[in-house]
Amino acid sequence: MKFFIDTANLAQIKEAQELGVLDGVTTNPSLMAKEGIVGKQNIMDHYRKICEIVTGDVSAEVISTNYDGMLKEAAELVKIHPRIVVKIPMIKDGVKAIKYLHGEGVKVNCTLIFTAGQALLAAKAGAAYVSPFIGRLDDIATDGMELIAQIRLIFDNYNYKCEILAASIRHPVHIVKCAEYGADVATCPLSSIMALLKHPLTDIGLEKFLADYHASQKAEKVKS
Ligand code: E4P
Repeated sequence: MKFFIDTANLAQIKEAQELGVLDGVTTNPSLMAKEGIVGKQNIMDHYRKICEIVTGDVSAEVISTNYDGMLKEAAELVKIHPRIVVKIPMIKDGVKAIKYLHGEGVKVNCTLIFTAGQALLAAKAGAAYVSPFIGRLDDIATDGMELIAQIRLIFDNYNYKCEILAASIRHPVHIVKCAEYGADVATCPLSSIMALLKHPLTDIGLEKFLADYHASQKAEKVKS
């Protein structure tokens, strides 16, 4: 499973990249706003900076909600860097835009996926990725992970090449479940990736190994 980081924070992106397990980045207008990135040129510059840090795909979301506007924005976004993936919302004009952009060889991440039907439409239109938002489904007392299972089954039934990019991940258990259910990618906050490192028995075990090592070195010194 590929790991993407779901942020526009450059320091966090660098930290994940340095860990050596990062395959890409997803952003959205809320994440850009959270970093205080305002104005079209600043947003474009910020995407460029992200592309210079990582070696994988970087999703950049359009703001337009009509077909022509989405295509215009997509044309601008793909000029920023060859690894920009255009993020298009799951709406009627979005599906039409995905179809067109796919025909032009542009990679699209179809965002705001909450049902298997939406994922099916996006895949048929030619999206490279679909982004089911599992955390937001969990938030409203439905099982987000069940959606991953449904989409996996459908895509495998028809051999769709569209990748399932599990989004809206809230904690490390979501990441592990995504891997169990066969998501192709999980886009995660840095905190959830780092939380995968943690187990108290790892810390206790390491402390004991080091204590035993140092005790044996001391004992050897006393003997000699
Ligand atoms: C990713 O592409 C989405 O924009 C993101 O994962 C949404 O996450 P949230 O539900 O935590 O805002």
